[in-house]
Amino acid sequence: MQNKLLYNGEGKYMQNDPFPPSEFDEWAETYDRSVSIDQFPFWGYESLLDRIVALAEAKPGLSVLDLGTGTGNLALRFAALGCNLWCTDFSAPMLEKAHQKLPGAYCVLHDLRGEWPAELNRTFDRIVSAFVFHHFELNEKVRILLSLLPRLAPGGLIVLGDIAFCNQAALEQAKVKTGDEWEEEFYWLADESLFALGQVGLTAHYEQISRCAGVFILASIQK
Ligand SMILES: C[S@@+](CC[C@H](N)C(=O)[O-])C[C@H]1O[C@@H](n2cnc3c(N)ncnc32)[C@H](O)[C@@H]1O
Repeated sequence: MQNKLLYNGEGKYMQNDPFPPSEFDEWAETYDRSVSIDQFPFWGYESLLDRIVALAEAKPGLSVLDLGTGTGNLALRFAALGCNLWCTDFSAPMLEKAHQKLPGAYCVLHDLRGEWPAELNRTFDRIVSAFVFHHFELNEKVRILLSLLPRLAPGGLIVLGDIAFCNQAALEQAKVKTGDEWEEEFYWLADESLFALGQVGLTAHYEQISRCAGVFILASIQK
């Protein structure tokens, strides 16, 4: 059988990278346990993944690209509904875990901040992601989202779930409730993010799913 675990050889990482792959490598072993504990930042983890699948209108035969797939929990839901999966992550141990759960998926080692890998030179009906983009500052989020548009098939959708709040006030409330468990990362604020996306001509919709997570939906420009 063709080996579908692909390494694209992109081994160069940024200097002073606040989120290098090594941050995630060790976590691969215990990640599924982390998400099963109903605490920040994974309050409502399962509901968020379910909502991404519902908003993506998953159905058999769709080509789905899952960015930052981790151990493959989101991709697995799409695969169970008959979709064809491509999964990326920049942590090799995470990607290995995903590959074990999804032997039929193409798994590509790739840093989302880097050049697009040749292995993914095609379009996808759906581009999805969960709990990944909060590692990027807002301008980087917008840059990456813009770069994904040519990868979307006509009529396609981008559906991103992540740690997100309606606005700064909602974030502050969650921070107080979370207490010592809170970590400072680049969490989405829906109001400023929708504005920033609008500034570059992207129309997105936002839905709050739990007290610390929400989903952004962007449609392909081509019908
Ligand atoms: C919190 S986990 C989320 C995993 C999975 N999507 C889920 O919902 O369970 C974040 C994942 O994003 C990956 N990641 C973080 N930054 C990345 C980047 N710049 N490029 C590719 N993957 C990245 C990590 O390796 C990790 O597997």
